[in-house]
Amino acid sequence: MSSPTRQEADEVGEIYDEMSDLVDVYYGNIHLGYWADDDDPTPLRDALERMTDLVVDALELAPGQHLLDVGCGVGEPAIRIAARSGVRITGISNSAWHVEETARRVTAAGVGGLVTARQADAGALPFPNATFDAVLALDSLPNAVDKGQWLREVGRVLRPGGRFALTDYTAEVPLTPADREVIATHGIFDPPTAPALCDLVSDAGLVVEQRRDWGARARRTYDEVLSLLHHRREAMADAYGSERMRAFEDSLAPVLEVCRAKLGYLLVAGHRPG
Ligand SMILES: C[S@@+](CC[C@H](N)C(=O)[O-])C[C@H]1O[C@@H](n2cnc3c(N)ncnc32)[C@H](O)[C@@H]1O
Repeated sequence: MSSPTRQEADEVGEIYDEMSDLVDVYYGNIHLGYWADDDDPTPLRDALERMTDLVVDALELAPGQHLLDVGCGVGEPAIRIAARSGVRITGISNSAWHVEETARRVTAAGVGGLVTARQADAGALPFPNATFDAVLALDSLPNAVDKGQWLREVGRVLRPGGRFALTDYTAEVPLTPADREVIATHGIFDPPTAPALCDLVSDAGLVVEQRRDWGARARRTYDEVLSLLHHRREAMADAYGSERMRAFEDSLAPVLEVCRAKLGYLLVAGHRPG
């Protein structure tokens, strides 16, 4: 199979732009949730916020610091982080709609003094070297066509000693070309194995301190999202047309099947040396 292309990456931005109501299925937190085990009764929304908190814990933020949120979605994680830790946050996304929606939600949440968002490419960040105290990439790295380039950019804009935390899907078993093709349609490009992801981070000049395999903790998200989508089908069909909605659901089901059966989920955190 050929490598994912820039055009495919742009199409991911378009999916995010066009299916804007989809973010409500995730309560505005477009990442995986965290459950302690199969008996954990935590509802999806709380599990999504708990994932944000657990990943952000690895950044050891202090009030007044400046955090870059790479692939900020619609800003819900940034709003939560700002409200809890008092850090200043710059979010970036390649989706114009995400940036607008972040601005709207930030104002509504009353954290406008702390959080701003702009449209930018994570592979060519529009910031000088050593701008940020910390960098977060919460479920955005799966969308990277060139993960190494994103990670080098993270290292470049982090100040020496600054901390990073990122999450990504990992291949737990070898993926077939068909698996890769299916998940690429929803913006998951060539998931690496867990050791390969850590190597990419190290090769970008970053020091890996923590590596947590949370595949089993996060996996319930797929079923929860499918079920919510099913319940909202009619309302969403009003907005997008029933044919388009059906096509979307039909295309999502096999993606989630590959995710459930073959992908893990890894937190990698550490610092830039210096
Ligand atoms: C799965 S969402 C995660 C959003 C957010 N971190 C959250 O947890 O809610 C991935 C985000 O990465 C952004 N993204 C994907 N490719 C990007 C790129 N090349 N440059 C900047 N942002 C990108 C998407 O627009 C989206 O906002």
